Amino acid sequence: MKSLKIKGGIPLKGEICIQGSKNGVLPILAASLLGEGPVVLENCPVIGDVKDTLQIMKKLGCTVWREGDVVSVDASSVREFVIEKEEAVRIRSSVLFLGALLGKIKKAVLPQPGGCAIGMRPIDLHLESLRQLGAVIEEENEGSWKENPNQDQRETQVSAQTGMLTADGTHMHGAHIRLRFPSVGATENIILAAVMLPGETIVEQAAREPEIDQLCEFLNLRGAKIKREKDLIRIKGGTVPGPVRYRMKADRIVTGTYLLAAAASRGTVMIRNFPQELDALLYLLEKMGGDIYQEEQKLLFSMPHRAHAPAFVETAPYPGFPTDLQSPLMAVLAGADGAGVIKENVFENRFRTAGQLVRMGAQIEIDGSCARVTGCKLCSNTVKAPDLRGGAALALAALQADGVSTITGMEYVERGYEDLARDLRMLGAQVWEER
Ligand code: UD1
Repeated sequence: MKSLKIKGGIPLKGEICIQGSKNGVLPILAASLLGEGPVVLENCPVIGDVKDTLQIMKKLGCTVWREGDVVSVDASSVREFVIEKEEAVRIRSSVLFLGALLGKIKKAVLPQPGGCAIGMRPIDLHLESLRQLGAVIEEENEGSWKENPNQDQRETQVSAQTGMLTADGTHMHGAHIRLRFPSVGATENIILAAVMLPGETIVEQAAREPEIDQLCEFLNLRGAKIKREKDLIRIKGGTVPGPVRYRMKADRIVTGTYLLAAAASRGTVMIRNFPQELDALLYLLEKMGGDIYQEEQKLLFSMPHRAHAPAFVETAPYPGFPTDLQSPLMAVLAGADGAGVIKENVFENRFRTAGQLVRMGAQIEIDGSCARVTGCKLCSNTVKAPDLRGGAALALAALQADGVSTITGMEYVERGYEDLARDLRMLGAQVWEER
């Protein structure tokens, strides 16, 4: 198991260029299956989730090259439509290949994703929407959602109850869909399935995350006709996406993690390629006493003193405070001045980091979807990453703790951060990796 050692008490100071967006590139890789011609993606992050996605694509018959941060995909010879469990268990966003394969070859067979460490994560909205588009989908072990009692299960692990999904898209057509909840993945699956279909598809209460806009921009550059206005998306179907060269934007969650790292360590961080989509976090950081200076692509943030705890923060779909930054925020509040409540509204199991923070001296009381965090001086300990963002949060706690902390289970973190140790070192932290 990989681990990270961090010496606390050193304020971060430095500049950083943020890796390409994980949640942006995963649906775009699935969308690279559609249409014709090579797709070239620049600033494609070198992370576990991308590696596994490219493996799935190779097995489907795509030709894939990577040279540094540039990935090229040629999907012209894809005929395979079965995604094996072996790959899908490692990456939950493999569910996006359902829409992409239906769009491309009108057939898809893939494992039904199970619950995971951060919540049950059903795909009912994906399936309902694709059925409204005319897909016939059979579910093996339908309705078998059960909480996995093993709290240490890997985030991407498929639960034992899951079977296969078999989908036929022969009679698919455009449709008017209203999502009950603005699910990011369901919105992406609808777009992937609808781009090449005859007729118009309208999605009401669609997700508004910036990654949805990136997917639409990528497909529109390839000739698709997709428009988004607030939570309404219109897709004029029947286009065949063509070749494109596209540059991935900076990852807003990685950006947010490093801004919160500056807040945790009372440091100063300059982001050289700020992605501009973090208003909810910037508002909060100012309320916590931080100084923000923004010029074009650059953002300078400094927290000259101990952060003041905000009284109440709740997670919400974009443009609300992102659930993916909830654990890193909790780590900052654990060492902040005062007490505050965090309410998690998106994923039910996202307070698993709290138990590890308590091992570092944090004072956290959980009551249902609310966590009350009272700031105090954290102390070093050996803790274990409970999931991707939770692992990063523990690094933020270690930056402000007395002594040297060890974070084990860094494999989780590598699914979404190219190299957390490299980045923190660049910002002046004392960090070592161990195997
Ligand atoms: C995506 C992001 C993830 C982020 C999340 C919310 C990727 C690869 N992952 O995940 O980092 O935390 O958005 O911003 O982009 N739900 C249902 N039924 C469904 C689908 C979702 O009940 O069919 C529920 C989920 O269990 C969850 C909530 O809706 O409670 C949000 O899920 P969703 O927006 O779909 O997130 P993901 O696309 O899985």
